[in-house]
Amino acid sequence: MGFLDINNVTKSYGAVEVLHKVDIEVQEGEFLVLVGPSGCGKSTLLNMIAGLEGITSGEIAIKDRVINGVHPSKRNIAMVFQSYALYPNMTVGQNITFGLEMHGVPKADRDRAMADVAKLLQIENLLDRKPGQLSGGQRQRVAMGRALVRNPDVFLFDEPLSNLDAKLRVDMRTEIKKLHQKLGTTIVYVTHDQIEAMTLSTRIAVMYDGYVQQLGTPKEIYDNPANLFVASFMGSPSMNVLPARLRNLNGEIHAEITGAEDQPLHLRIENAPESYRAYLDAEVMLGIRPEAITDPEGADRNARNIQSLHNTVSVTEPAGADTFVSTTLSGKDCIARMRADADVHPGQAFDFAVNMDKAVLFDPKTEERIG
Ligand SMILES: Nc1ncnc2c1ncn2[C@@H]1O[C@H](COP(=O)(O)OP(=O)(O)O)[C@@H](O)[C@H]1O
Ligand SMILES: [Mg+2]
Repeated sequence: MGFLDINNVTKSYGAVEVLHKVDIEVQEGEFLVLVGPSGCGKSTLLNMIAGLEGITSGEIAIKDRVINGVHPSKRNIAMVFQSYALYPNMTVGQNITFGLEMHGVPKADRDRAMADVAKLLQIENLLDRKPGQLSGGQRQRVAMGRALVRNPDVFLFDEPLSNLDAKLRVDMRTEIKKLHQKLGTTIVYVTHDQIEAMTLSTRIAVMYDGYVQQLGTPKEIYDNPANLFVASFMGSPSMNVLPARLRNLNGEIHAEITGAEDQPLHLRIENAPESYRAYLDAEVMLGIRPEAITDPEGADRNARNIQSLHNTVSVTEPAGADTFVSTTLSGKDCIARMRADADVHPGQAFDFAVNMDKAVLFDPKTEERIG
């Protein structure tokens, strides 16, 4: 049993099932991120944990207590919304302590809790202001303060950074991570932003169309995506996915793709799992992340199997720290990620270095990862 158990949970609105048999066991102190595109069911699941939505079937339990019928105020959870939902007529201090007051916590204890939280979030100088006198980032802090002050079993966050500008979003992301490292409270955090998911989480549930597509650590999800949806949703630029054929050449398995002039190119696969054999001479989808395709000097020194690929450069896009380089493979635009000072220009016949340790294969019909 986990600390928070989501057990075979479904949700229907009328005849429409929007969440299908969700099973997630969250351990104490975990930072679980629910990530997926808009409409995939993230908020619905979070709201069911909070008690703001009913559970159609299945069970949710916190510390072994089933909470299906328990009133939101009795679940010992705290939620931070995208909209902050602050009371406009109350001061920051009152906003933070209002929940405690409702629970009958004595004034001296409330004041002490408020002072602790205000210090933690560095909003001590804002306590007498009204929400209308605060910036977006400050309001976000107050909303977090209101959640923190209650010392809940579980924090729920629904897209808490979506209303902030890009720079502030990155700063607050780091602060939330620091806060979690410091307090160790169990968190379930909803976002549509895959970078937020990767950077914050101890584990990620990637959701699409009401299904959990994959549940795993950021590294598992990034390196071994369960299917083509997860592969393309996580990571920016997206994983390159190229139609390929598996060939046995002199007893070794190769992925055969085509180059800019439709010439066949072969990438040797080392330590191929047994399951690859069933696909020999059949079509597969070859997945390679942009950073696994580099200039030869930029290739990962720790990689065992770097394959050289001779092909024409179509476009180069300097992006400061890196240069993104496009080349046509198997009729598709393929992006390589190179050092900023890689000597590469459009039209050049270039020796790309492909880190095949990082390559993954998908079945083109089921879209599931092979092996
Ligand atoms: N109150 C509701 N009535 C009917 N359908 C709803 C309701 N709330 C959400 N939905 C539907 O449930 C699905 C999941 O929504 P939601 O959980 O808000 O997605 P997300 O938070 O991932 O963007 C969507 O298709 C949405 O239209
Ligand atoms: Mg939502």
